Amino acid sequence: MFDLLPMAPPDSILGLGEAFKKDPNPKKINLSVGVYKDEQGQTPILASVKEAERRILESEKSKGYLSIEGLADYGREVQNLLFGADHEIAVAKRAVTAQTPGGTGSLRVAADFLRKHFANSTVWCSKPTWANHQAIFQAAGLAVGSYAYIDAAGQGLDFAAMMESLEKVPAGDVVLLHACCHNPTGIDPTPEQWKEIADLVDRRKLLPLVDFAYQGFGDGLTEDATGLRELARPGRELLVCSSFSKNFGLYSERVGALTVVAGSADAAERALSQVRISIRVNYSNPPQHGAAVVATVLGDPALRQQWEDELTAMRSRIKSMRTLFVATMKKLAPQKDFSFIERQRGMFSFSGLTNMQVDELRTKYAVYVVGNGGRINVAGMTPSNMAPMCEAIAAVL
Ligand SMILES: Cc1ncc(COP(=O)(O)O)c(C=O)c1O
Repeated sequence: MFDLLPMAPPDSILGLGEAFKKDPNPKKINLSVGVYKDEQGQTPILASVKEAERRILESEKSKGYLSIEGLADYGREVQNLLFGADHEIAVAKRAVTAQTPGGTGSLRVAADFLRKHFANSTVWCSKPTWANHQAIFQAAGLAVGSYAYIDAAGQGLDFAAMMESLEKVPAGDVVLLHACCHNPTGIDPTPEQWKEIADLVDRRKLLPLVDFAYQGFGDGLTEDATGLRELARPGRELLVCSSFSKNFGLYSERVGALTVVAGSADAAERALSQVRISIRVNYSNPPQHGAAVVATVLGDPALRQQWEDELTAMRSRIKSMRTLFVATMKKLAPQKDFSFIERQRGMFSFSGLTNMQVDELRTKYAVYVVGNGGRINVAGMTPSNMAPMCEAIAAVL
């Protein structure tokens, strides 16, 4: 039966990571996969995470199954991070949270839930968006559309075009919004623009699905939730897909959450009962370890402070690499203005490199960048790889 199977193409981003691993060039530089690297080029385990793991190892008494929606403490902490303490949503018990395997797991559970109960809704994604978005919703059987996002120069938000295309989305459809640190562009709406987006979503009766994979990587934990909190108006419904892969460095532990905000506590409980069904037929119940780590860190004031400091250090390092990149390129290729990179947020930016330049970077200089816009992972830059990397980019321009 399997002899006739066609070979599937490698994943556009993870496939590059595999090619990077196999590249024998000792000077190779990986700016493709979305993983944070420290100054030494390592993806560290945070000290707050290590301490939480030590405590869990000592106190853990059972490996019994979790409930379908996972750890209750974790769900509470996730909601606190999203909306802040004592938010109307929490007081009214309008939100329910299910622990999921990573942000991807949460997107897939959301997709299955939407497909089952709102099969005629189309999911509208920004153009461009994270490559997996479209694939996840289509795999669940939903139609996917796109709305305008990036400007013609590829350096900023074309807000007028974005609003114009969202205006055309039919009532009851789903609009996927990146809460912060838009992947792949690094371009986010301003707080004033978020307000206009929330007004439009309200007026047009659209369902926002907020993908929150980088809380704390933009301007801060609270600042990065500005758009989400604007959407979370009294009585309004929304879905939030959280990932703690990046801000806790828990990539391999698969820690995420799906939060459904309904109009009332009763509707929220009914939504959760349906989300449980989607989970049960998918992976039954979530893995414990990563979510226990997050709940332990967030539930202990000292550990939480330590984590916030570590998160601030990651964010500051990325920002300093943006500044250094712009300064270095200014020296090496003054004819091209890269200053927009400094205005963007999070791990990624669209460099504007053409597919030919991206290919040449890989084949001639072993510098790995994602094609179709030249997405670069700024968090893969270090003070020591900056000069050779910028020299390679200057050479292919
Ligand atoms: C925008 C966005 N959403 C979701 C995810 C999924 O995160 P996870 O690795 O937790 O599945 C990513 C990961 O790169 C992402 O960039």
